[in-house]
Amino acid sequence: MLLYVTACRQETAPKYRIGFSQCTGNDDWRRNMLTEMKRELFYHPEMQLLYKDAESDSKRQAAQITELLAKQIDILVVSPNEAAPLAPVIATAYGKGIPVIILDRKAATDSFTAYIGGDNYNIGKLAADYIAAQLGGKGRIIEVTGLRGSSPTVERHQGFHDALERFPGLRLIATLEGSWVADKTQAAAAKNDSALRQADVIFAQNDVMAYSMYRYCRDKGMAPKRFIGVDASPYPDAGIDLVSRGILSASLLYPSGGKEAISMAADILAGKKVPRNTLLQTVLIDSSNVKLMRLQIDKIQDQHQEIEQQQSLLQEQRSLYQDQQHLLRIVVTTLCIAFLLGIVLFFILRTNRRINHQLKQQRDEILLQRDQLVEMTAKAQEATEAKFTFFTNLSHEFRTPLTLIQAPLENLMGSRQLSAPQKQQLELMRRNVIHLMRLVNQLLEFRRIESGKLQLKVAENDLQSFMIDIMEAYKGVAAKKNIDFRLVSRQPGIKAWFDQHLFDRVLYNLLSNAFKFTADYGKVHIYLERPAHSQEAVIHIQDDGAGMDENTLAHAFELFYQSRNNEHKGTGIGLALTREIISLHHGSIRVKSSKGAGTTFSISLPGNSTPFAPEEIQQEDESMNVINHSLHSYIADAEDSIPAPAVPTTGTTHTLSLLIIEDHPELNHFLVDFLREQYEVFHAGSGEDGLRMAFQHVPDLILCDIMMPGMDGIQVLQTLKKDIRTSHIPVILLSANSSEEQRIKGMQHNADAYISKPFNLKYLSESISSMLNNRALLKDHYIAEPETRVHTTQSNKTDRKFVNDFNAIVEENLGNDQFSVEDICQQLSISKMQLYRKIKQLLNCNVNDYILDARIRKGRYLLMNSKFSVSEIAYACGFSSPAYFSTVFKARTQQTPKAFRDQVNKKPDA
Ligand code: FRU
Repeated sequence: MLLYVTACRQETAPKYRIGFSQCTGNDDWRRNMLTEMKRELFYHPEMQLLYKDAESDSKRQAAQITELLAKQIDILVVSPNEAAPLAPVIATAYGKGIPVIILDRKAATDSFTAYIGGDNYNIGKLAADYIAAQLGGKGRIIEVTGLRGSSPTVERHQGFHDALERFPGLRLIATLEGSWVADKTQAAAAKNDSALRQADVIFAQNDVMAYSMYRYCRDKGMAPKRFIGVDASPYPDAGIDLVSRGILSASLLYPSGGKEAISMAADILAGKKVPRNTLLQTVLIDSSNVKLMRLQIDKIQDQHQEIEQQQSLLQEQRSLYQDQQHLLRIVVTTLCIAFLLGIVLFFILRTNRRINHQLKQQRDEILLQRDQLVEMTAKAQEATEAKFTFFTNLSHEFRTPLTLIQAPLENLMGSRQLSAPQKQQLELMRRNVIHLMRLVNQLLEFRRIESGKLQLKVAENDLQSFMIDIMEAYKGVAAKKNIDFRLVSRQPGIKAWFDQHLFDRVLYNLLSNAFKFTADYGKVHIYLERPAHSQEAVIHIQDDGAGMDENTLAHAFELFYQSRNNEHKGTGIGLALTREIISLHHGSIRVKSSKGAGTTFSISLPGNSTPFAPEEIQQEDESMNVINHSLHSYIADAEDSIPAPAVPTTGTTHTLSLLIIEDHPELNHFLVDFLREQYEVFHAGSGEDGLRMAFQHVPDLILCDIMMPGMDGIQVLQTLKKDIRTSHIPVILLSANSSEEQRIKGMQHNADAYISKPFNLKYLSESISSMLNNRALLKDHYIAEPETRVHTTQSNKTDRKFVNDFNAIVEENLGNDQFSVEDICQQLSISKMQLYRKIKQLLNCNVNDYILDARIRKGRYLLMNSKFSVSEIAYACGFSSPAYFSTVFKARTQQTPKAFRDQVNKKPDA
């Protein structure tokens, strides 16, 4: 980078701008001036020349100088066309602090830094002297001047004129104005033709005008004359050439000052002091020295050429050097970048190595974990397999005893001596045996498919006739439930390849579900179709029943998945088995369902035998039964449960009541049947209904199932125990889940007992009666000691608060004869029925009796401890008359109030 900076510094870019305003660039002398300037500039690369040519127009020149000033020039070099018109702009430039060098012609101002030019006065004088020598002091002369307003014109004329005065024989017969250029000279000559013819010598203030005069005289055939010019420029047809050709007698060398102007500008920029006036030397060139002069000029030209060649060579070297510098800079920069990149790369590589190392460690860990996982999975699979084998074996074991139950049961059911309730109980047993049998069979089939032991035997079957056969079995259920059950097939003769013996399970299972979840007067429709351009046959089984929520739908085909909402409660085998059977057939099953809007199962089956292996295809001789009659157990499942036994609600004289909350209808009915001998039994099929009935009837005890759709047993328990109307009622929870956790959860919510299914009926009935007996004891306890009854540990907080509130209301109103049971109900926000039951439960007495007892207790106290009359005491205790007080008092204490007071007064220690 350092090298880069150094290289930059070495490069020389022009720092200064030299503005050069030329009055005209259109003649050899001025061209020479510019060449000299450029040669000199080569040695000053820090300077840049901005050149303007005014083409002999003073106004234009002034404007061009202003333009140069706007370009921020550092020095102004100007050769003014005319002295006066250019003076203001030159003064302005100088006034702005820009150094001004005036070259050749002068300006009519003192505001400039330096002047460089030939000695024009001396030129005029030398010319006059030369003429005098040539003519021997006698002859006629014509003078041709330059532009009238330019300073050389005036000075040359002055010098010429002054010198001529010394030679009285010399006569200046005319002065013509040629304005420095040929055409104007020709025009002036034409106007002075006669004077020209008389003249011996013509002195023109520059060679251009002298040559023009020569051409005019020659063309007019005038007698030979001498022509003298000024400038002596080294070009063809210019001064030196014309002298050597004898056209001009002489020319006065007039240096351009171009070189001097540039080197003076460099000095000024370098802060050097420069002379204000620099007069350049002149010399007369005529036939006597022109040869020598020419030789010298040629030599100088050669030298210049050589210098120019050297310069261009140098320039080439310079640009080569600059190119190399540029290249070097690029190389250095590239090297620096490469170096920096190298450092970055080094760090990146180091970091990469570290990361790689970490990654390797992580990968090793992951691999280790993966191996462990694989091992664990294998173990888990082994365990699952063992579990399945165990359950499969167990299922096999179940089949024999189940068959042994089913057969005698069916025998028994055939007996004529059975009473209606006995028949109902046997029917309940039969249905549940069939249900169990089906579960066991499904489980075994599932295992057979899973373990690959099941050999598929497919054949091409007519789907419609197969379907009609199966539907036959469901006609009874459909009629019973008034369900619109039909088959819709718009394309006759749809065939599909399947194993009838296996596939019928699929249809039985799906139809059983459809019927089970479809309400009376609903519909179950089956559609058969073969979609266009398809090799498959499709069966849609559509119902407008309960439908499934999103969660149940998502897990519908999972083995043992139990729906949370309990409405689709099942073992979780049926649909999983269905899907297994269909995928064994290379078919597919989809389900569409939404809550309350029904369910549609769509099954696709192959329409040809291509997907099946040869051994899977049934041969002609392997005939099969069309319908597997054992599958009729599915139909039983689709039917409604056995109607509930009529529960007599009136006419019974049981003193204690129970409420059974159980969603399994058959178990519910069974319990009702079993317990109604001893108790008044209310029953509900859901948590919500159960709660409603508990508030309505306030039973003495509640039996509640835990797992129920909607509100479960724990929620029911919580609500009951928090509500003042029911908080006193003992609750026994029933559950199929006998885990410790469930029990603890139940107990945490103040369950009074927890009995797990299956339960022993005797145990259940004993639990109920012992709980009710304990309650009765508790009530006695409350009644015996009014002051301590609220402290009983057995009673819950809600109950204690209730008894306290009740007592307080009664005590407060003992003197109020308008006080009634309605007032208490209003203050406690409960119904009359709830109050009566609650007081009966907690205090084992009638509300009115309790109030009356309290009034009598207060009467006794006042009779013993006050001086009030019996009448006054009667009113104070809320009796409407003293007579009524006496009657009640006597009924309770076997003596009149008066007798009681007398007796007390006789025994002061009583
Ligand atoms: C060129 C020129 C010269 C003369 C000078 C005077 O333009 O006419 O021939 O010597 O200018 O300024």
